[in-house]
Amino acid sequence: MTGFRIRPANGEDARVLSDMLVEAANWNVSRARPRVAVLEDPTVLRYVAGWKRPGDFGCVAEDAHGAAVGACWARLFPADQPGKGFVAVGVPELTLGVNAQWRAQGVGRALLQELGRVAASSGAARLSLSVDHGNFAQRLYVSEGYVTVQSRATADTMVRAVR
Ligand SMILES: CC(C)(COP(=O)(O)OP(=O)(O)OC[C@H]1O[C@@H](n2cnc3c(N)ncnc32)[C@H](O)[C@@H]1OP(=O)(O)O)[C@@H](O)C(=O)NCCC(=O)NCCS
Repeated sequence: MTGFRIRPANGEDARVLSDMLVEAANWNVSRARPRVAVLEDPTVLRYVAGWKRPGDFGCVAEDAHGAAVGACWARLFPADQPGKGFVAVGVPELTLGVNAQWRAQGVGRALLQELGRVAASSGAARLSLSVDHGNFAQRLYVSEGYVTVQSRATADTMVRAVR
């Protein structure tokens, strides 16, 4: 695990998170959409819209030149406008994305682990997420302690207690 470092996500990171949101939404390259189409989709855009609002937290992985290569962040959604991985009011839902050329080098796992630490210090008791069926990322989540709490038609909702 070398060549990158992780820092907290700040209020200036909306563009970085949008980039990584597109990576996450386009995890299946055979169904990838253009960036503009992904970010025009309100069911996707809501994960970064208005960043950084109260309750939002996250972390960014950077290369040796300070360029962002991945991000993991979490935000709260209300019950009447739930995210895909919503489980309860007060449980932040995370998003994780890594630039294609940086994948399989430990960045995703390191970001996920750091987000867990930030969640603990923010007072969150649990973290949730939604992962599409067939995305290998689910194995990463399982190995980091996430448990499937609901299986839907095309995706699973997973939860982990924050320690
Ligand atoms: C999923 C993702 C965030 C993982 O980040 P990453 O930096 O590639 O993952 P890591 O290098 O930390 O590897 C984590 C685990 O996944 C495994 N892995 C990595 N790439 C893999 C691949 N292409 N196929 C299967 N397993 C893979 C690794 O082997 C590792 O497990 P191990 O430690 O037991 O070997 C990243 O690949 C990505 O951005 N994918 C597209 C977006 C996405 O799917 N986001 C999640 C949406 S829910």
